Amino acid sequence: LVKSEDFSVEEIDQILSLSQNIIENPSKYSRVCEGKLLATLFYEPSTRTRLSFESAMCRLGGSVVGFSEPNSSSVSKGESLGDTIRTVSCYADAIVMRHPVAGSAEEATKYTEVPFINAGDGGNQHPTQTLTDLLTIKSLKGSLENHTIGLCGDLKNGRTVHSLVKSMSRYKGIKFIFISPDELKMPKYIKDAIQEQGHAYYETDNLDEVIGSLDILYMTRVQRERFENQEQYEKLKNYYILNKSKMQNAREDMLVMHPLPRVNEIATEVDDDKRAVYFQQAKFGMYVRMALIVKLLEVM
Ligand code: CP
Repeated sequence: LVKSEDFSVEEIDQILSLSQNIIENPSKYSRVCEGKLLATLFYEPSTRTRLSFESAMCRLGGSVVGFSEPNSSSVSKGESLGDTIRTVSCYADAIVMRHPVAGSAEEATKYTEVPFINAGDGGNQHPTQTLTDLLTIKSLKGSLENHTIGLCGDLKNGRTVHSLVKSMSRYKGIKFIFISPDELKMPKYIKDAIQEQGHAYYETDNLDEVIGSLDILYMTRVQRERFENQEQYEKLKNYYILNKSKMQNAREDMLVMHPLPRVNEIATEVDDDKRAVYFQQAKFGMYVRMALIVKLLEVM
């Protein structure tokens, strides 16, 4: 799984159904991965993705090896990505990798002998965050069709929004509203892909103008680590701050999602609002990764 389009809509439906079954019957799945080993190779920091994958494997009865800091591996001695992946393939039944370079996940698949999962490659894609987001939307809205989704913040560098938009554009009746400053607009290749699927999109830098029309508001962090010019980051980092006052103009049933980590873009005063579902979303991430592991290891 390198990019969100690698699974068909039918395969995604299966994974989401399996996730829901796991949520309802966790004990049925608690030993299905006994004797299996998952490797988590994190060349970039992570809280949710790494720990939810590791929790997922443990809750399925399997085991985990890996690194969260590449300097503790032979990468620090100059080992290539290909050699690392080849070696880890000798030990583990599946590999999860996060890497700062866009395209590194595709590169890794040339060397792996076992199922490989992209846990985020630079500013490119984050397909398991998208599975998390789809499970959140389906569970809380009842359907993946006929929604107006506002994506707000760093749409240029945010890999989660690239994967989510590509995935959601495969469902009927989706309208995208891209809310960002000029400097952080959604890349053209993503907008072209949406148009090819026959969907409309609208771009603005004004969150207040559109918040009342949204079914889902997907907030994102300005990605400091992707900026070459730190002055530019400082200028843009607080461009959007969602607070209680802005939420007053939103629909009663609008979902506020965020892949997390958050910096300042959602004030903590919003956390108690029933429409703020980002921590629920993080929990859905563990269940969907359990389903993904079960599918890729073919243990059921
Ligand atoms: N959403 C997400 O990818 O979070 P982490 O960077 O903490 O894994």
